[in-house]
Amino acid sequence: MAAPGADDVTYNPFDIAVRADPYPYYAMLREHAPAYHVAEQDIWCISRYDDVAAAVTDTRRFSSADGIAVERISGLAAAGLTGAEVITGTMISMDPPDHTRLRRLVQREFTRGRIAQWEQRIQQICDELVDDLLGTHWNGGEVDIARDLATPLPVLVILDMLDIPASDRDQFKEWTDQLIYLIGGGIDPMLQLGAVGAALELAGYFEKLVPQRRDNPGDDLVSLFASTGTGGEQLSHIEVIGQCVLFLIGGNETTTNLIGNSVQALMLHPDVQETLAADPSRIPAAIEEVLRWDAPVQGLFRTTTTDVDVGGVTIPADARVQLLYGSANRDASHFPDPDTFDINRDARDHFAFGGGPHYCIGGPLARLEARIAIQTLLSRVRNIRPAGEEVLNLNMLVRGRRSLPVTFEFRPPND
Ligand code: HEM
Repeated sequence: MAAPGADDVTYNPFDIAVRADPYPYYAMLREHAPAYHVAEQDIWCISRYDDVAAAVTDTRRFSSADGIAVERISGLAAAGLTGAEVITGTMISMDPPDHTRLRRLVQREFTRGRIAQWEQRIQQICDELVDDLLGTHWNGGEVDIARDLATPLPVLVILDMLDIPASDRDQFKEWTDQLIYLIGGGIDPMLQLGAVGAALELAGYFEKLVPQRRDNPGDDLVSLFASTGTGGEQLSHIEVIGQCVLFLIGGNETTTNLIGNSVQALMLHPDVQETLAADPSRIPAAIEEVLRWDAPVQGLFRTTTTDVDVGGVTIPADARVQLLYGSANRDASHFPDPDTFDINRDARDHFAFGGGPHYCIGGPLARLEARIAIQTLLSRVRNIRPAGEEVLNLNMLVRGRRSLPVTFEFRPPND
């Protein structure tokens, strides 16, 4: 019998079985079809580490300008989604040099040093959430890490950073709950339409808030986005709004997934829980390994501007190509024994935050929130284990737990 080749590979990223456990499929793609055409949806997938690394830096041939989700921005506009450019016309959907200008203006507020200033506040928010979930457990209720910690933490943090008034926060919570359906594929179109509506309402909210913050600036992110840079450059009004919306879309579900995926990895590796509890300075390395091993964002799209040769296959011009970050992170040519979760490896050059000029701006914040969440949990409880079936998020771009019921024992003081 002939060895399997590219023709024997079948892969459909929208398939529920694939979403449930994509990693064996990625291994097959890397080995036999590193540039794979999904005929049903006419999209391409690039799965090897080196090919993904080349594509993220080659913005000339792999453009972000038609969006990084499955749907093309041009398609959304053609479908009559007026205002869609507010959501989609942000730096994540731009190529240099426009991207470079916007990124420079926003980056100044998102350095590791500036983010570190939020540590105390994040710890306070996290302590309150963990106190509540321990109370639930104490009273015999079900604790769901996704619902009780991983979902609310990033939302509460970003609302604080944007300084959204308390009276508007419930409305924000409703909008952000819907935003998770904005991008993706294989999602109920009604949910997606609701998400577009929520994003537009959100943009309308910032439309009113931005001029107020320009007139009366504080040290919140909206004021900082609206302010003038050292070179006298400013984001335009629409860019400030887009930036605020992008932070809510880009930062919430992703960080939720990172925290949930971290707890899931710890439940599958109980010995690591005790290692980290005994030496919390190892938590950042463990989080890097979660980012590599079970990436919260599995892959984003580009559009080819010309024919491109990848792994001996020609991807035609104007093709939609998914860069499979989750697969690159499991490529044995870069990470030995890639399917093993190992907090001792140096996992930092994973693609969980992308790479090249679009490398995630929120990385320092996401890492800080995840570190605080895991450290706080492990300082209070031990032997975290499943208490029911997890529910996965089946969006083809991301990977995370929508529900993660757990149980544990309280950690005795001075343990
Ligand atoms: C674990 C959490 C997160 C993950 C896994 C993640 C993942 C990513 C990835 C893969 C990209 C690259 C986009 C591309 O290749 O086209 C990206 C870009 C971006 N992320 Fe994140 N992200 C996370 C958290 C955040 C947070 C907390 C924020 C902000 C509050 C944020 C804001 C952004 C922005 C603005 C970009 C666009 C950067 C650019 O186009 O230059 N992200 N993120």
